Amino acid sequence: MLSQEKNELLTKVGPGEPMGELLRRYWMPVAGVSEFDEVAVKPVRLLGEDLVLYKDLSGNYGLVDRQCPHRRADLAYGFVEKCGLRCNYHGWLYNESGKCTEQPYEDVANPQVKLKERVKIKAYPVAEKAGILWAYLGPQPAPLVPNWEPFSWKNGFVQIVISEVPCNWLQCQENSIDPIHFEWMHNNWTTRLNGETGPYSAAHRQLDFEEFDYGFVYKRLRGDADENDPLWSVGRVCLWPNAFFLGEHFEWRVPVDDFRTLSVTWAFTRVPKESEPYVQKHIPTWHGPVTDPQTGRWITSHVMNQDFVAWAGQGVIADRTKENLGASDRGIVMLRRRFLEELDVIASGGEPKGTIRDPRLNECVELPIAARATFVEGMTRAEFARHPLWRHHLQDFRFQAGQPESVRNAFLEAMGIGE
Ligand code: FES
Ligand SMILES: [Fe+2]
Repeated sequence: MLSQEKNELLTKVGPGEPMGELLRRYWMPVAGVSEFDEVAVKPVRLLGEDLVLYKDLSGNYGLVDRQCPHRRADLAYGFVEKCGLRCNYHGWLYNESGKCTEQPYEDVANPQVKLKERVKIKAYPVAEKAGILWAYLGPQPAPLVPNWEPFSWKNGFVQIVISEVPCNWLQCQENSIDPIHFEWMHNNWTTRLNGETGPYSAAHRQLDFEEFDYGFVYKRLRGDADENDPLWSVGRVCLWPNAFFLGEHFEWRVPVDDFRTLSVTWAFTRVPKESEPYVQKHIPTWHGPVTDPQTGRWITSHVMNQDFVAWAGQGVIADRTKENLGASDRGIVMLRRRFLEELDVIASGGEPKGTIRDPRLNECVELPIAARATFVEGMTRAEFARHPLWRHHLQDFRFQAGQPESVRNAFLEAMGIGE
């Protein structure tokens, strides 16, 4: 349970809010690079700020205020030039550092006033990595965009899946350190959704939670698994500050504002050994629906969709004054405590947890991975088809509903199936 005051402290993400300031110290994934195959300008709301992400004609990305500083026109309808984004109302042009570089009529009629030197638009840095566009809204100097080890894995098919969930980010992130929900929400509820009443899956016997540099590891023992089980000996990662890492995929819970969260998934599937060497030419990005248009109800068929049901069901901002926490929630208590401590760290001018500033360290940042060999060494097609988890992906993308057919076909082609 949390006091109302602490609940607000941990959930409010706007500029000037303590948690908003802490989250601004980290690069946030905001879009897929491939989204800019078709469009050059995309409105983005991030941490309570309305912004516009664009790719100019030279291929440079920029992230600027959504309103034009002239007379507030919507730059989501601006158009890109060789260098920067031009407002469609009177043609003022801005570059990625926020400088106003052209004011067409002022430049002719009033050049001596030098108005454009006094006009600046809010602008934030954008970085491209692993098929994702990352934004940094914090103070300079920015830390490095983490180069997590899977970003450099070879012979894999990567896809990026984005969905907006109508609730606050923290309850989504608390799900990253909640091992028990796998048994109930993903295993047993799925059994019931399929119209079966059992058998229920192996029950959790023991949990453990540990903090490390980049977050927390949780460990579980289920059924008759022993301590050599990688889910106990290695565990899963609640990645600081707002992601979940499961070895071959990351799920970021990116705050849009206090009331909405962008779920951004980066998923790697190693191709079978027979399909190596495989070089992916294009990392697709797709937007997953969260509700069924026929019924208006949440989609419940896929793993992350089930999570979305839980997150949104907790309320727009979960009322933590009304909780009853148990032993299963020990990780959640640890996570909240560390967030509260880190608020004090940045308030006193310190460097918050988990930022990376050393380029050598950032060449490849390893994280605990329970089945590393599967991704690093690969499997044959026959091993793939027998694998208890991975074989399902050959039929369907199990994490989220709505994968477009074009992505499905590209995936199957990469896997060497259906050629
Ligand atoms: S409002 Fe943007 S140029 Fe006038
Ligand atoms: Fe889940």
